[in-house]
Amino acid sequence: METLLHEWLSLLFRWLHVITGIAWIGSSFYFMWLDQSLRKHANLPAGAHGESWSVHGGGFYHVQKYLVAPERMPEELHWFKWESYMTWVSGFSLMAIVYYWGAESYLIDRSVMDISAGTAILISIGSLVLGWVFYDLLCRSPLRDHSTVLFVILFAAIVASAYGFSLVFSGRAAFVHVGAMVATMMSGNVFMVIIPNQKKVVAVLKAGGEPDPVYGKIAKLRSSHNNYLTLPVLFMMISNHYPMTFGHDWNWLIVAFVLAIGAIIRDFFNSHNAGMTGPAIQWQWPVVAVLMAGLVTLSAWKPGGEIQVDDDVYSSDAFAIVQTHCAACHSATPTSEDFDEAPGGVMFDTTDMMKRSGARIMAQAVLSEAMPLGNMTGMTDDERAQLGAWIRAGMPDE
Ligand code: HEC
Repeated sequence: METLLHEWLSLLFRWLHVITGIAWIGSSFYFMWLDQSLRKHANLPAGAHGESWSVHGGGFYHVQKYLVAPERMPEELHWFKWESYMTWVSGFSLMAIVYYWGAESYLIDRSVMDISAGTAILISIGSLVLGWVFYDLLCRSPLRDHSTVLFVILFAAIVASAYGFSLVFSGRAAFVHVGAMVATMMSGNVFMVIIPNQKKVVAVLKAGGEPDPVYGKIAKLRSSHNNYLTLPVLFMMISNHYPMTFGHDWNWLIVAFVLAIGAIIRDFFNSHNAGMTGPAIQWQWPVVAVLMAGLVTLSAWKPGGEIQVDDDVYSSDAFAIVQTHCAACHSATPTSEDFDEAPGGVMFDTTDMMKRSGARIMAQAVLSEAMPLGNMTGMTDDERAQLGAWIRAGMPDE
């Protein structure tokens, strides 16, 4: 019963998280596009910066943007904040359900660091808080006037934290923590800075005063970070189903590639939507292609080199390894306390069953160290190499 409840909570919060994430990112993409589509006309109302017309769902929309404020504040003003807040709340809940509730299986890898579930959860929460404090101080420091330098430092800090996480958590948890930490910065920007400042501006305007332009500058810096970090964060979140990313020995370096690739793709769309032409929008895709090729090459490469397997490996040898390291969970009748059913429906009760999942065994336990979960059974590199040799040789019985 507990397993079923756990699975349902996981599914429902994942569902909610995807919905709110789509709403947040969708509205933020829409507003970025809207900004770029604004055009000036001679007969715009006083104080208006530009207007945009669009057609959607059987009607026409006419939007006018006021850079500081319209002459008179409207009665009803729509805010866009719950998308962001709920994305964070649902995301943190999902992390608690999967990684805190299932800490022994998902968060901790005792071959990485031998810590208790409680310690691991404290480190996890602490890292989200610390990440925000560091980032917020960075944005308030004198570097705020040097946005490129600031962005480079932020980039380096994220890669460094990825390295730090990889020394503490399982590969999969390390990857999700990088995503969660960056997403916390993004939501924090909305919750702690952009919306409170916007409220101050509205209050000053309602009182008939002149708002300080510094608020606009602060919001711009923070929202440009959110803009460039969106694509990398999405990658971090969905890639935890792909062990060649988080399961790599140098998964922190994979994070660096993903940050660069995501930010450069975003830059293309920003520049393109701003109406730029020529070299300003021509460099991004070739650079992305080169970085992608580098990323794929890196994922195939094993630091320290491949272990050579001298003897032929047969099904009976592979079966013995899998019985030792996998069958406690991946069986029609799992003996592991944590699983009532074979996780993912993957079972290794016979060699035929193993053969059917050859490619998946390769991905999970040879090319990466995603399985056994949290390396609970202490599988060695040598055993992984033997499984790999068996699969590459076509899984021979003798
Ligand atoms: C402690 C329990 C446990 C052990 C031991 C274990 N696994 Fe898993 N395995 C899981 C869980 C849980 C999942 C589902 C992962 C998820 O939620 O994505 C899984 C998923 C898988 C999948 C499916 C992944 C996919 O989505 O394609 C494969 C293949 C797999 N494991 C192979 C192995 C192999 C090979 C071993 C032994 C070397 C092993 N597992 C050991 C718990 C375990």
